[in-house]
Amino acid sequence: MNINQAELCSQAARALRESSYAIAMTGAGISVPSGIPDFRSPGGLWSKFDPQSVCSDWALRNNPAGVWEFLFEALKMFSSARPNPAHLALSRLENMGILKSVITQNIDNLHQMAGSRDVIEFHGGCGSFFCNDCKKEFELARALALTVNDIPWLCSFCQGIIRPAVVFFGEQIPYEAMIRSQELAEKADFVLIIGTSGEVAPANILPQWIKRRGGTIIEINLGSTAYDGFSHLKLDMPAEIALPRIVDELNSP
Ligand SMILES: NC(=O)c1ccc[n+]([C@@H]2O[C@H](COP(=O)([O-])OP(=O)(O)OC[C@H]3O[C@@H](n4cnc5c(N)ncnc54)[C@H](O)[C@@H]3O)[C@@H](O)[C@H]2O)c1
Ligand SMILES: [Zn+2]
Repeated sequence: MNINQAELCSQAARALRESSYAIAMTGAGISVPSGIPDFRSPGGLWSKFDPQSVCSDWALRNNPAGVWEFLFEALKMFSSARPNPAHLALSRLENMGILKSVITQNIDNLHQMAGSRDVIEFHGGCGSFFCNDCKKEFELARALALTVNDIPWLCSFCQGIIRPAVVFFGEQIPYEAMIRSQELAEKADFVLIIGTSGEVAPANILPQWIKRRGGTIIEINLGSTAYDGFSHLKLDMPAEIALPRIVDELNSP
C-alpha cells in the first residue's frame, strides 16, 4: 500500500469513527477475491453468459435449459467460495458496534459465512429454491446434488422450472428487503459503498437518499463507477486490502 492509499484509509477510519449510524452497501466486487467474478472480470462467468438470456424473467419462461446451464456453474462456484478479508473486516466492524447493517446485492452468502449478522439480501439469495409456476419449495441440498444430466431442474409436480430465490432481471426486489433498506437509508448517516459499479437500479439510489439527508458516502471500488464525483471519499484500491487496514486503524489507540 502506498502512502496515498494509507492516508485514504486513515481518512475513512476517522470518518467511520465519527459516524453514528454506518451501513455498508456491497456488490459483486467484494466477492471477486473469493473467486467469484463480477460483471467486468475478463474470462468470468459473465463473459460466457448473457445476463438477459439466462438471468431474466424472460429466460425463466423461454430458456430453462440456458438458465440451468448458468445456475449449475454459478452454484458450483458459490458452494466452493469462502469469505475473504473484506467480508471478514465488515463482520469485525459489526462486532465493534460501528457498522449496523450490510445491504448486499450479492447472492453468494459470503457475508453471512463471514459472521455478519444483519445482512439484507437486496437481490435475494441462493439458499432456497422454488417452482416458478406452482411455487412449491425445494431444498438447497437437492440443488447442490444435481448433475449435468438433471438439468434443467424441473418441478416434479407441474414441470415448471425450479429457480433460486434470487431476483432475476425484470423482477421485483423482495418486499422485506426493500422496506428494510429504505428504513436504513432513512436512518444512516454514513454508507460504505464497496465493490459495486452502481449501475443496477434500484439498489444504486439508496446512497443518494443518504447523501441528500447530509450523510457521508465513502466508496471502495477499483476503477471508475457511476459514483465518481458523488462520493465524499473514493478509495480506488482492492477492498480486501483497504477494509482490514481501516479496521486495524479503528482498533489502534
Ligand atoms: N457474488 C455475487 O453474488 C455476484 C456476482 C456477480 C454478479 N452479481 C449480481 O450482478 C449485479 C452486479 O452489479 P454490481 O454493481 O454488484 O457489480 P459490477 O460487476 O457491476 O461491479 C463490480 C465493481 O467492483 C469493482 N471491483 C472488482 N474487484 C474489486 C476488489 N477486489 N475491490 C474493490 N472493488 C472491486 C469493479 O471494478 C466494479 O466497479 C448485482 O446485481 C449482483 O446481484 C452477484
Ligand atoms: Zn411446480
